Amino acid sequence: MTTTVPNPASDAPEIGDLIAAGDAALIDERYDAAVESYRAALAAGADDATVGPKLTRADLAAASALTLGEQQTKVFQSRISAVAAGGTLEAPPELPKPAAPEPGQHGPGYAVRVAAGRAAGAAGSAVFHRLTKLAGRRGASGEIWTDWYSVGERLPGPLQKWYQILKLAHMRETLFENNLVRPYPEGVKTGYVEGDLEPPEWAERWRSADGSWNYLLKDDDGRHDPMVGAAYTRFFRNVGDDRGLAGIRVPEDPATDPVSVRELSRRLMASKGERKTIPFLNLWAAAWIQFQNADWVSHGSNDESRTVSIPLAEDDPLRSYGIDHLSIHPTQTDPTRRPEDEGLPPTFLNEVTHWWDGSQLYGSDWDTQRRVRSMAGGKLLIGDDGILPVDPETGTELTGFSRNWWVGLGLLHTVFAREHNAICDMLAENHPDWDDETLFQTARLINAAVMAKIHTIEWTPAILPNHSLNDGMMSNWYGLVTNAFGGLHKRVLEDIPITSRELGGIVGNPQGTFAKYGLSEEFTAVYRLHSLLPDTVNILHLDGTPAEDVPLGRTRHAGSHRMIGEFGFDALARTFGEQLPGALVNNNYPASMQDVSVPGIGVMDLAAVDLYRDRERGVPTFNQLRREIGLKPITRYDDLIDDPDVVAELRDLYGTDDEGRDNVDDIDLLIGTLTEAHRPTAFGFGETLFQIFILNASWRLLGDRFYTDDYRSEVYTTEGLAWIDEASFKSVLLRNVPALAETGLANITNAFEPWDEGRLSEERHPLRACTKGLGPDPWAGERARGVS
Ligand code: HEM
Repeated sequence: MTTTVPNPASDAPEIGDLIAAGDAALIDERYDAAVESYRAALAAGADDATVGPKLTRADLAAASALTLGEQQTKVFQSRISAVAAGGTLEAPPELPKPAAPEPGQHGPGYAVRVAAGRAAGAAGSAVFHRLTKLAGRRGASGEIWTDWYSVGERLPGPLQKWYQILKLAHMRETLFENNLVRPYPEGVKTGYVEGDLEPPEWAERWRSADGSWNYLLKDDDGRHDPMVGAAYTRFFRNVGDDRGLAGIRVPEDPATDPVSVRELSRRLMASKGERKTIPFLNLWAAAWIQFQNADWVSHGSNDESRTVSIPLAEDDPLRSYGIDHLSIHPTQTDPTRRPEDEGLPPTFLNEVTHWWDGSQLYGSDWDTQRRVRSMAGGKLLIGDDGILPVDPETGTELTGFSRNWWVGLGLLHTVFAREHNAICDMLAENHPDWDDETLFQTARLINAAVMAKIHTIEWTPAILPNHSLNDGMMSNWYGLVTNAFGGLHKRVLEDIPITSRELGGIVGNPQGTFAKYGLSEEFTAVYRLHSLLPDTVNILHLDGTPAEDVPLGRTRHAGSHRMIGEFGFDALARTFGEQLPGALVNNNYPASMQDVSVPGIGVMDLAAVDLYRDRERGVPTFNQLRREIGLKPITRYDDLIDDPDVVAELRDLYGTDDEGRDNVDDIDLLIGTLTEAHRPTAFGFGETLFQIFILNASWRLLGDRFYTDDYRSEVYTTEGLAWIDEASFKSVLLRNVPALAETGLANITNAFEPWDEGRLSEERHPLRACTKGLGPDPWAGERARGVS
C-alpha cells in the first residue's frame, strides 16, 4: 500500500475528493472504480487536461483485465513451496518408451567418411585454435572500445572478414574460459538434489517439461546431476576477469544508492520528444526477443510479503496521484540457500528451464504442459479459428508462459503453436504408427530447434547487421566450412560429417564441457530491452491501409485476444512487419511504461524497476561488468557519449569524487549500455551488451545435448532435420499465415526487416549487403528477383 499525500491538482473540494478517490483506486488496482471516479470528476467540471489522461490510463488498465492476474503466478507459488520444502526435482510422469530410433540413412562407406570427418575436424580445429590465438594476441581493443570490427583494413576483403571472425572467436573463447560461474558449491548437485538417481528411459530421446535430465553425464562421484538447466535452479553469473563473485555488491538501498532509480528513469531514460526508432528492424523483432526471453529466463513472482519504496522527488509528475513514493515487491529470494552457501553472493532461481527448449510454448512444469496439449495427434490446443484458446481465469491466451502478455506475444505464440501442429502433421504422415506422446515430444524438439535457428542466424544478424558477425552467427549453426561453401543446409556436410564445432558448427557437434549449463543474472540484465516497445501500435488493414492507432496498453493482457478478434490475425501480422521498434539508446523509453499498471502493482515505473532489479540482484555496474568480461572501463562520462547534455545529466546525477573525477564506477549497467554511443559498425546496441550476448548465444547451443551430441536423425528424425534446415522466419510465417504472401514479406529475405515493397534501401535493409545469394544487386527486392 502506498501513502497518499494531499493532491495539489484539486481545486474544488468535491472534485478534489473524486480525483483523490480515483487515484487511490488506481493505486489499489481497482481500475473500474478509478474509471468511475475520474469520470465523475470530469462530469463535475474537473480540468480535462489533468484528469483526462488519468481516465485513459485507468481505462486501459481496466480494459486489459490485469487484475485477473497471470496463470504463471499460481504455478510459481506451488513450485516454489515445493522447492522450499526440498522437492526440487519434480517426479516425472510415466511416459511410453519412445519408438525405436530410425537408423540414419547414410549410404555405403559411412563409417569411413565419419572417420575422415573426425580426422579433418581434429586437424581443422587445431589450426583454427592456433589462428584464433594468434588473432587474439594483439588484443581487440583500442584505448577503451573494442575494434575487432575495424581491424585488418589493409587486408583484402575476404581476409579482413576472416581476421575479424577469428578475433570474435577469440573473445568468445576467453569468455567461455573465464565467465561461466556456477553458483553452487563445488561438488554439490544442481538444486541440492540428493540420492543416486537414474534418468527415465524416455529422457535419452525427449526433453522433459521442467528441463531435468537434459544433462546425462555422470560426475566424478559416479552419480548423475539431473537438475542441470532445470526450472527452479539458480541463475549463474558471468563475472570472472576482475574480482569474480567477490566483486558482486548489493547496495544498502537499491532504490537510492548511489542515485535514485526514479530520477535516472526520468532524466536519462524518459524520451524527450519524438521516440527514435531502429530503421532496419520491424516490430516482430521486438516481440521476438521478449518471446525468446520467456523461453530462457524469469525470476518469477516477486515476494508480496515484503514491500520496498522508491521515493519520488518533489517535482515528480507521479505525485499527481497523491503519492510520495512508489511501492514494489522485492525479488523472491532463493529458498534453497544452505549453510554451505556462506560467502556466495545473493542467488535467485529461474522459474523457467534455462534450456532453449521452447518452454514458453510448452511450459516449464508437467501440469502446464498437459494444459496446453490437445492430447491427440501430438498437437497443441488451437481453436477452430486458428487462434490460441483463452484461459478463462486470466483472460490471456493459453500457453506455456504468459507473463507480461501483449499482442506481440499473442501473435508469436500462435504462429509457433501452428508451426508445432504443422510439424505433427508432417511426422504423422511419415510415421503413421506413432502415438500422441511420440508425435508431441518429437515435434517439440523440432519446433524448438526452428526457433533457435531463426534466432541465431536471422534475429541476431538483423539487429547487428555486420558482415563478420553475420558470418560468425552462421558458423555457430552451420560451421565455417559449410558456410564458406555457401551451404544453407547442415546436410550439405552429411557426406563428410566434420567433427569440429568451428568448422562444422556448434549444432550437431560434441557438447561443450566448459561448465555445467545455466543462464545468468547478467544475461537477464542485458535483455532488459523495453526501449524496443512502441507507445502506440499503428494498426494496418491486411491491404496495408491504416486502420487505427492503438495505445500499447490496449494491446496488453486480455487486450491481445480482443485485438486479434477485432482487427484480424493477418492484419496484425502485417502491422508488425511494417512498424519499426524503438531504438536502444538513452532517453528513449516508452512513456507508457514509466507510468504503468502490472498485475499486483497499480502504479509502477518499469524503467526505475529495471534499474532497481539489477541493483537488488547484485548485477555489476557498467564499468565493473566491463572489467569482469575483459573490456576496458571508461574513465569519464564523456567516454560514453559525445552529447554534452547527456554528459551533464550523468555528471549531475552520478556526480564526481573529491578530486573532481567522474564517478564512472557508479553508472548502472542499463544506463551505461543505453548511453554507450560507440557501437560496432551498424550495431543496434553497443559492445558491452554484445559481449554477454556472444557468450550466451553460443553457450545456449553448446551446453545442450539436444543441439550437440543428440542433434541427429535418431532423435529428430531425418524429416525433422530437413524441416529445420528449410525453416526461416519468413517460411514459418508464410506457412502459418499464408495471407502474408500478398504483403511486403514476400519482397524481403529476413522477416525481421521492415516489410518494404519495391526497391529496398540500404538504410532499412543493411543486412542485404552481406546476405549470400542475393546476386549482384542486393537492393532489388525479392519480387524483382522473382523469388518471392
Ligand atoms: C508490452 C510488453 C511488455 C511488458 C508489459 C513487460 C513488462 C515487464 C514486467 C512487469 C517485468 C517485471 C518487472 C519486475 O521485476 O517487477 C518485466 C521484466 C522483464 N522484461 Fe519486460 N515487458 C514487456 C516487453 C519486454 C520486451 C520487448 C523485452 C525485450 C527483451 C522484455 C524483457 C524483459 C526482461 C529481460 C525482464 C526481466 C525478467 C526477470 O526479471 O527475470 N520485456 N517486463
